[in-house]
Amino acid sequence: MDLETAIRERRTTKNFTDEPVDPAVVRELVELATWVPNHKMTAPWRFRLVGPEATASLIDIAPADKKGKVVKAQTRVLVSCVVVGDPGRREEDLFSTAAAVQNLLLAATARGIDSFWQTPTIPALPASRFKLGIPDDEQLVAVVHLGFSRDERTVPPRVDVDTVYSELP
Ligand SMILES: Cc1cc2nc3c(=O)[nH]c(=O)nc-3n(C[C@H](O)[C@H](O)[C@H](O)COP(=O)(O)O)c2cc1C
Repeated sequence: MDLETAIRERRTTKNFTDEPVDPAVVRELVELATWVPNHKMTAPWRFRLVGPEATASLIDIAPADKKGKVVKAQTRVLVSCVVVGDPGRREEDLFSTAAAVQNLLLAATARGIDSFWQTPTIPALPASRFKLGIPDDEQLVAVVHLGFSRDERTVPPRVDVDTVYSELP
């Protein structure tokens, strides 16, 4: 799949089959994710494949009405950023981490793997962070659910490019 196709075809999927993604493939996707722009090469991103014990802990900690949000796909990667140093570096490292998440999603798309970038609300709870051993200097950026969609993917329309693009003189 060429890059332009992957960019257009990547779709948020929330209804996955029970088929997991091979951890070896996840590792390859993460390696691709690290080929992201990164000022001063700080390598701030951290990727954790969420295993069964960690998943059980998150379900246990989640409020009753949110437990169903923990497992969307059988494979999930928790992405965080080590936020240290001055505000400028912190901001750059967070931007790099968001870009790394997109690399991960596009690399997955290119291999026929569906994805969902979810705000890491439950992993960010203090009890979850403690249980999963997330250091205090890491900011959680995404839970990336990976798998195979059960549904035809709906395509949220994009804005007309002319509403967001202009040319400065
Ligand atoms: C930073 C970020 C956080 C997101 N968090 C959520 C989320 O918690 N729940 C959700 O349903 N979608 C979440 N999304 C996915 C967007 O809703 C989705 O990308 C958007 O609807 C467009 O659909 P598409 O990805 O198929 O183009 C998030 C996307 C980003 C970039």
